[in-house]
Amino acid sequence: MNPATFENSPFLNACRLKKNTRVPVWFLRQAGRYMAAYRQLRSRHSLLEMVKDPQLAAEVTLQPVQAFGVDAAIIFADILPPLETLGFQLEFVQGEGPLIRNPIREASDLKKLKDPDVKKGLGFTFEAIRKVRQELAPRGVPLIGFAGAPFTLASYAIEGGSSKDKALTKTWMRRETAAWGVLMESLARLTAEYLTAQVEAGAQAVQLFDSWVGELSPEDYRAYVAPYSHQVLSAVAKLGVPVLHFGTGTAGFLEDLRDAGGDVIGLDWRVDPAQAAQRLGPRVAVQGNLDPTLLLAPWEVLKGAADRLLDALADRPGFIFNVGHGLGQTTPEDNVARLVEHVHARRLV
Ligand code: CP3
Repeated sequence: MNPATFENSPFLNACRLKKNTRVPVWFLRQAGRYMAAYRQLRSRHSLLEMVKDPQLAAEVTLQPVQAFGVDAAIIFADILPPLETLGFQLEFVQGEGPLIRNPIREASDLKKLKDPDVKKGLGFTFEAIRKVRQELAPRGVPLIGFAGAPFTLASYAIEGGSSKDKALTKTWMRRETAAWGVLMESLARLTAEYLTAQVEAGAQAVQLFDSWVGELSPEDYRAYVAPYSHQVLSAVAKLGVPVLHFGTGTAGFLEDLRDAGGDVIGLDWRVDPAQAAQRLGPRVAVQGNLDPTLLLAPWEVLKGAADRLLDALADRPGFIFNVGHGLGQTTPEDNVARLVEHVHARRLV
């Protein structure tokens, strides 16, 4: 593969704070149930079947690239299958989201965790990455790999599924502080290894999702989480591909999130984009931060919001247009198409 093909990628340029002639755009959850093409495949396969079949995963990854011309693909996978390599039993229950059958409840449960074999246990994703890279090579569209950050993964391992306030996780973190360190350390090692293998398979950037870290106070983030995110991000920084670091609800500790690592910081819509970029400073790129429910609004309203975001950040070296969290299930495909077109129409000087 000739890496020169990607020299003009607006997405990779922005990650590296290089000047662009237009603004790159892609979307969190750009492949998913809002797309008819996805629903068609999904009607015949479960989510985990799709993730674990490299051919299907590759096909779904390409759908939004083909349909909307986004500037990056993100490999179709999930943050939770890596937990299976530690011995957690994962299911997705229709209408309920993810479920871990054997969550951690006692410090002694940690002894039951397996030594993960990442290459073997997650080989389907590496194979899917190789397939997507072949398909995308002629288009010059780069592929993003990803993983869940230690805190967000720990929240599933402890709660056993989605939870609103992460109370079990936070209680465990404070009560079983030594065991928390052991768990976070093993999740950090697993995540670093998983992301490294994705880059070796061909991922040209990687994103660390700390989706639920906004449940924490700044003080708790610094004490219980940042060192482990830093462990992952500093290991991955050595691979030579841009690293994106994303969380939601992070307004209270954006600087700490930045200092934990990453070339690009992902913002949600709860922050003013210009103010957040100011706080982050010139050494990191910024990705975000449109409220995904704006894609449900009439086009004129969506366009107005997109223009204000572009006015705020388009001229900053290192801006990637995105939503502040995943696109919802009821997003009209038309709005996605028009939004991509609109962002691409903005010329930079
Ligand atoms: O296009 C893409 O963004 C790539 C694919 C992707 C998926 N999950 C597929 C998926 C990515 C990047 C993820 C990450 C992920 N998974 C996160 C972090 C990002 C975020 O949204 O904060 C989290 C917390 C998960 C865990 C997870 N997976 C939950 C809570 C759910 C259930 C919620 C829901 O929408 O049903 C999932 C399921 C899941 N993962 C879907 C998709 C497309 C739902 C679609 C389906 O059931 O067909």
